[in-house]
Amino acid sequence: MDFFGGGAFGAAKFNQKIILLSGIFRSGRMKRIWWNKLIILFHRIFLSESWACMKKGKFITIDGVEGAGKSTQIAVICDYLHRKGIDVVKTREPGGTDLGEKIRSLLLGLDNEGMHSDTELLLMFSARNELIQNKIKPALAEGKWVVSDRFTDASFAYQGGGRLLNLDRISELESWVQGKFQADLTLLLDVGVDIGMTRIESRKSKDRIEKEEREFFERVRSVFIDRSKLYPERIKLIDASQSIEQVQQQIQLFIEAL
Ligand SMILES: Nc1ncnc2c1ncn2[C@@H]1O[C@H](COP(=O)(O)OP(=O)(O)O)[C@@H](O)[C@H]1O
Ligand SMILES: [Mg+2]
Repeated sequence: MDFFGGGAFGAAKFNQKIILLSGIFRSGRMKRIWWNKLIILFHRIFLSESWACMKKGKFITIDGVEGAGKSTQIAVICDYLHRKGIDVVKTREPGGTDLGEKIRSLLLGLDNEGMHSDTELLLMFSARNELIQNKIKPALAEGKWVVSDRFTDASFAYQGGGRLLNLDRISELESWVQGKFQADLTLLLDVGVDIGMTRIESRKSKDRIEKEEREFFERVRSVFIDRSKLYPERIKLIDASQSIEQVQQQIQLFIEAL
């Protein structure tokens, strides 16, 4: 059997291929291909979105209808994180930056009653872009935690649910402004619209959006609930009709699990 001879012949062929390949690699074309591959790899690793928004801290958002208890619980959350030695940045939407707060005045001011719903949505995302780029991402990169009173879920709920804008359009803006950037945890404080409204009755003046009719807030609440079902990993629905202490305890459990 010519087994040994065949093997020697096979080895010679293999060597020939290696020589051929190394010759090709040394050729300009192959070098260019490998360089391109290296550049693509470098880009993927260092310039990709995940690198750009590399987070060392955690991003928590809190949302829900008016009077759900967001401001009350945010104060407790920030206090709790401080006591744990975590550097925490508290912010709010719309607003949170110098420019964002100016946009907030435009959005909520009673002198802008006739604002088109699309304009409202675009202004919300303009303020959000400022907040993400100039405040949230830099803070997270420094290892701080960020807690925001409202975030993108509110655009889906208020402009999508309340104003009846197309949810897909809001998703497009979300992708455009945020890419894959999302909160690590969203606490959705869910309470009946009537309870929420009763809680805020004592507020001196209502802003342009708070002045909307009851049905508007029912639609807002319903979209919030839908989203918590769509993204159960991120959005934790909490029954905010419970006492402040009960809500606080549940929030603490979710934060500890982060
Ligand atoms: N779980 C709760 N039970 C009863 N009252 C609450 C609860 N949470 C908040 N409140 C009260 O309701 C009012 C509105 O709360 P706030 O935190 O300002 O709501 P939001 O910021 O969601 O509009 C405040 O007077 C607050 O003390
Ligand atoms: Mg509030």
